[in-house]
This record gives sequence, C-alpha cells and structure tokens, in this order.
Amino acid sequence: MSYIEFSDVVRTYGEGTTKINALDGASFNVEKGELAVILGASGAGKTTALNILGGMDSATSGTITVDGRDLSHASENDLVLYRRADVGFVFQFYNLVPNLTALENVELATQICPDSLDPTEMLEKVGLADRLGNFPAQLSGGEQQRVSIARALAKNPKLLLCDEPTGALDYQTGKQILQLLQDMSRSEHVTVVIVTHNAALADMADRLIRFKSGRVTSMTTNESPLPISEIEW
Ligand SMILES: Nc1ncnc2c1ncn2[C@@H]1O[C@H](COP(=O)(O)OP(=O)(O)O)[C@@H](O)[C@H]1O
Ligand SMILES: [Mg+2]
Repeated sequence: MSYIEFSDVVRTYGEGTTKINALDGASFNVEKGELAVILGASGAGKTTALNILGGMDSATSGTITVDGRDLSHASENDLVLYRRADVGFVFQFYNLVPNLTALENVELATQICPDSLDPTEMLEKVGLADRLGNFPAQLSGGEQQRVSIARALAKNPKLLLCDEPTGALDYQTGKQILQLLQDMSRSEHVTVVIVTHNAALADMADRLIRFKSGRVTSMTTNESPLPISEIEW
C-alpha cells in the first residue's frame, strides 16, 4: 500500500444545471518521502484534490488513505486531529497573521499540535534567522512564503501540501522557494505535494501527476529529478 492512495475520487459541487465534477474519478498514489508535483491547467481540479488530501474538504465518492488512515470515512473529530498534527499547508498568498511577528506566526501554529518543532530553529532553517521579530508587512513576498513554510514544517507534519506556492512570486524568488521545498523534502524526510500549472516544475519531481478535467491523465516517476537551479522557464 502506498503512503497516499487517492482512488477513483469524485467531488461534485452544486446541483442540477450548475452541477460540476471538480474531480471526476481521479486516482493517484504517492510514496513516503517523495516530492510529488500535480500539474494541470486552471480548473483541472488540483486545489480540490489537495483540499481533500488535507482533510479540508471531502469526496463525494471514492477513497483516500494517507499512511493507512482512511480519510474518506474519518469522523470530523479525526479530521481535526489529522489537520492539526499530520498536515502542513503552504498557500499561494502565505496567509500570515498580519499583527504577529514571523516568530509568533510560527509559534501560533505549533501551539495546536502535539509533536511540534522549535519555531526559532525552523525559521533559521528557511534562512530567516535575523527576521524573527519582523511583521509580515516588513517582509518581501519571498520572505513571507519562507515564514509560511517554516510555520508548516514546525508542526512536524507527515505531509506538506503546497498549492501554487510560487504563484505570487517573481521568477528568481519563486525558484528559491522551490529549491527550499526540494531541500526540505530531502532533509526533513517529509512527503511533499506541490500543485502547479507551471509545466517547468515537472523535472524537479520524484513523481509527476498530470491532471485534466478532474482526472489523472498520467503519472510518472523520475529517478533523477533536477535541482531547481538547472530548470529554466
Ligand atoms: N466550492 C466550489 N463550488 C463550486 N465549484 C467549485 C468549487 N471549488 C472548485 N469548483 C470548480 O471545480 C473545478 C476545479 O476547481 P479547482 O480544484 O480549484 O481547480 P484548479 O486548482 O486545478 O484550478 C473548477 O471548475 C471550479 O470552478
Ligand atoms: Mg487551484
């Protein structure tokens, strides 16, 4: 059994004439410790899949298991614990609390999970040792995304889910953030799933999952993924 098993998942939104299958029988799997990239055009169902994987949304049908846990039949209480302890999220727009410092933003997240890591150490790891006391507005977009990665990893999650993590960043800054995610997947041994519409990211992945119209059109593994520095787009 794979670490993540996403099997024949359908997610329907709306009713009657406005009914849409955001996911329409999507299946894929990811092994422990892999960096997986989910690639697809806007509207392909990537965010829906990530939200279901993170326990923030639920499938209309199909089964989802993570580390042997069946999310598709989990109680709301189980999902709360799963989101708190097992999953770190990184979003396109960082979602930091504006009136808390970088350090306080990370501390806030660690307070709700049982096996969290030291917030200061995590901020040092993402290269922000000298910005602990800064508020989000005093940080660049790339620095804010580093804080959000530190916040996600400080939970000591099994799974790091990233939805278009470079979508709001310029080219060079985006590359640095991707390098950080690739490095962290190796050094922290966390399973990472990155959702993107940028086909250039295909070569950085251990596993590439292509989405189209709510389905997986291909899944390939890569024995020698490229460092981000060797990828141009
Ligand atoms: N909460 C929702 N209510 C209605 N439709 C939704 C909702 N979330 C997503 N959709 C629709 O489902 C499809 C897939 O969306 P999404 O998963 O966000 O795609 P992607 O992240 O690949 O751009 C889109 O057509 C989108 O409009
Ligand atoms: Mg999306």
